[in-house]
Amino acid sequence: IPGQPYGLVVFGASGDLARRKLFGSLHDLYERGLLSDKFYLMGCGRTQFSDEEFRSVVRESVEKTAQNRDVSEKFLTRMFYLSGQYDDPKFYEDIKARLKELDGKYAVGGCHIFYLSVPPKIYADVAEHLGQAGLSKPISCECPGQPRLVIEKPFGHDLETARELNRRIGEHFHESQVYRIDHYLGKETVQNILMFRFANTIFEPVWNRNYVDHVQITIAESLGIGHRAGYYESAGAVRDMFQNHMLGMLALVAMEPPASFEADHIRDEKVKLLKCIRPLEDENIDSAVIRGQYAAGEVEGEDVVGYRQEEGVAEDSRTDTYVAAKLLVDNWRWKGVPFYLRTGKRLPARLTEVAITFKTVPHSMFAAVGLDELPANTIVLKIQPDEGIKLSFQAKRPGSKVCMTTLNMNFDYAKVFGSGAPEAYQRLLLDSMVGDQTLFTRQDDVELSWKLLDPVIKMADSGAGELYEYAAGTAGPESADRLIEADGRKWRPLM
Ligand code: BG6
Repeated sequence: IPGQPYGLVVFGASGDLARRKLFGSLHDLYERGLLSDKFYLMGCGRTQFSDEEFRSVVRESVEKTAQNRDVSEKFLTRMFYLSGQYDDPKFYEDIKARLKELDGKYAVGGCHIFYLSVPPKIYADVAEHLGQAGLSKPISCECPGQPRLVIEKPFGHDLETARELNRRIGEHFHESQVYRIDHYLGKETVQNILMFRFANTIFEPVWNRNYVDHVQITIAESLGIGHRAGYYESAGAVRDMFQNHMLGMLALVAMEPPASFEADHIRDEKVKLLKCIRPLEDENIDSAVIRGQYAAGEVEGEDVVGYRQEEGVAEDSRTDTYVAAKLLVDNWRWKGVPFYLRTGKRLPARLTEVAITFKTVPHSMFAAVGLDELPANTIVLKIQPDEGIKLSFQAKRPGSKVCMTTLNMNFDYAKVFGSGAPEAYQRLLLDSMVGDQTLFTRQDDVELSWKLLDPVIKMADSGAGELYEYAAGTAGPESADRLIEADGRKWRPLM
């Protein structure tokens, strides 16, 4: 569905994120005919640019992937720029005047999307200024709908700051106008968790405590922190990955079936699930949550430095780059089924997956021939990089009477659908334009996930709690192995 007519206002348009991700994704959508022809983009920022200079910036970001020069030039004619200071009310009055002018010129009908590609600490200030300038409401009677505000994680730094951010934004923008991006939810394979679970009858009946032994959710990265020390030092793995992407995937895997594929039906179920996660109490944090930090090592054949030696990182930094946790979901479906979650940087490979391990057979009729412990069935939802689904089961191998092996049934996205799946970011941009909030994180979801992790964050921030070292290129600290091995289980291999 091509997006509705709109004027997209990008704050922080001269910044890195806009250049790296935003312009290229928009251009790609435009080339594929997925954007309405009635649109324009107005960049806003502190850097002084003329419209022409701004177009050169955008041109640079899009030319590598552009397929058709004429289309790109047409795209660029829709780019405008206005400079100003984010804390100056006059800037917002100027924005309003320019929007009115451009709305008329491009017959956009006054629908506006404000995309905040600025440092998160000024999200609330910008939202407030927009509200005070009357920009959180339609500025003309032709507007088909309310203006939208798009922001990216982090949504706050902990529970208190997340609540405060939501409160301040909420004074001017209704929740139905706020689009919080979690790019994991834009991934095709993450969305497929819903299709897989709720569009088939064969899996859902066994998706519960009666048949499932445990669930493992992994996001492993081989990369380090790159040049993001400034951000990462105050974030760490718990804030950067666990609070959002990991808990988001857990919610999709474990939630109850929503009544319909509507944004709030799905988001209600996610929130209900988060409410069922057993709180982490101070006394059990150290045994349920393992935090680690990478030391020097070898990853994918290359020697790499330890986290504390990365540029911009304090020599005595206690920031976590790895976190593993055992979570329990206290409801009828999942009572007693542990969910083991882990994510880390500088692990041996890049791998994101959700693995459901089923219970073993209650009685092995093959015990007499030494097969008294049969391997469990597993379903692995392979999120990236080799997107697919793998179901493993036992089968007879040709040969002697009782000869058994584990077989895998593999579904491979690339083989079946080619590699044409849109990038997560594009999908989310498009959804914000058509006004579909399904894949965006709701306020209560954000606050519940911070609430769950608040004790961990407080403990870590106060310098208490263990921070275990792991050599880059290994699968994480040994204590994380002990976390799962204490229950008689093992982490799945990362390679
Ligand atoms: C981001 C984190 O949200 O997700 C990064 O800030 C992380 O630290 C990235 O590297 C991982 O995303 P993906 O899509 O590459 O798995």
